[in-house]
Amino acid sequence: MTDVEFRIEDDAEAAADVCARVLADAAGDVALTGGSTPERAYELAAELRRDWSSVTFWWGDERCVPPDHEWSNYGMAKRSLLDRVERVGEVKRIEGELGADEAAERYDRALRGVTLDLVLLGLGSDGHAASLFPHASGLRERERLAIPAEAKLEPFVDRVTTTIPALGATPLLVWLVAGEGKADAVRRAFVDPPDEATPASLIRSKNGRTVAILDRGAARLLGS
Ligand code: 6PG
Repeated sequence: MTDVEFRIEDDAEAAADVCARVLADAAGDVALTGGSTPERAYELAAELRRDWSSVTFWWGDERCVPPDHEWSNYGMAKRSLLDRVERVGEVKRIEGELGADEAAERYDRALRGVTLDLVLLGLGSDGHAASLFPHASGLRERERLAIPAEAKLEPFVDRVTTTIPALGATPLLVWLVAGEGKADAVRRAFVDPPDEATPASLIRSKNGRTVAILDRGAARLLGS
């Protein structure tokens, strides 16, 4: 038994399309994710909706690079979504260029009193989500909403990540995962018992819905 609702699509494009529709319906405080998988979903979301003025954009994590750097999670969302639409609301990016400690402190302060209305997350093949990596001490953080983090996968730059309490407070937590290379991580994250070896298994909406949008490849080991 699992508390996660699955939405399984034929391929990555169809999964991106479902995710784009969820984003395009959103209002309020929305946290985007980085990585490569969501890029197509952001492009499709930009086509679906021109006016995003009712959305305040946040990020689940960031790499400590300038915003225009190719590794910037903000930069990816800017190119694929924000720059492609007519109106955006507030943009609360993580200022990774300030260094992990200061950027995390500022983001923690910015997030105080905010409940994210929608959180989008991706899943690493090692089971990480945002920049919460396997066995990291940050997995036990209960007070701070954003913390500095060390990368355990490429790109190896310092990170800032939101924490399990910040992510879990959302009423709608949506995962977008595609590709067979993620199938084992999907099983560990969404079916197996929670374990610090698979950070994603610890991240659920506490009082709302957790939805996993998967393609067939990523879903291959579900139920086995
Ligand atoms: C990051 C991400 C990270 C990402 C996963 C999946 O900053 O790297 O936010 O948590 O979502 O690593 O990334 P891919 O979509 O590239 O596989």
